[in-house]
Amino acid sequence: MKAHAAAAALEYVESGMILGLGSGSTAEIFIEQLGAALKTGALSGIRGVPTSAMTERAAQGAGVPLMPADQASRIDLTIDGADEVDGRFRLIKGGGGCLLREKIIAHASDRMIVVVDETKLVEMLGAFPLPVEVDPFAFTITAKKVFDALRASGAPRCDVALRRRGDGLEPFVTDGGHFILDCACGELPDPEAAARRLAAIPGVMEHGLFIGLARTVIVGEEDGAEVLEI
Ligand code: 5RP
Repeated sequence: MKAHAAAAALEYVESGMILGLGSGSTAEIFIEQLGAALKTGALSGIRGVPTSAMTERAAQGAGVPLMPADQASRIDLTIDGADEVDGRFRLIKGGGGCLLREKIIAHASDRMIVVVDETKLVEMLGAFPLPVEVDPFAFTITAKKVFDALRASGAPRCDVALRRRGDGLEPFVTDGGHFILDCACGELPDPEAAARRLAAIPGVMEHGLFIGLARTVIVGEEDGAEVLEI
């Protein structure tokens, strides 16, 4: 399903584009397919701006030429995955812990195309715990503020957990040196209010609500892909 979504997204790529390269398994499948199209000559002159160290490695492995993010002043198109997508193309992202860089790049892009499998489509955001990237300094204070913000924006509950590395001992640290708080709310009835309240907390570097950024969502299915536009 992910490969079908990625293949459909590749149709939107034109030679010479500066491409934002998202993070996660679906984005990596897209990067492999992009690398293959560059090898056959079907596409040329592409430069990719990676949203994480993982993506940078994947792009290097696939033979996709890269442009360092600090040399990019604009981006034609970003292709990225998502953890949840609702009917208004509001997203939860950050399952891979790359949300700050993903949002910087998505925001700088003329267009963002989201590639997901159909399991990511939801009626209401929030079953997937919302990732919030925070400065490690005084993160317990920030976590309390995050809890208050999400409850005040209508979340029926909110369990805030510091994300840990695979070994379960040390905190997970993002490429930018931040921590991630995973906020299990069950439902987020007012994502805009949640986004506004989270953005106002000093220790919050960025939150995983991507609102108003995606205009195209490509949904991979068993036998193809559906392109949704708003
Ligand atoms: C990483 C992300 C990913 O896009 C999201 O987690 C989806 O990943 P996958 O394609 O592996 O399901 O936001 O921070």
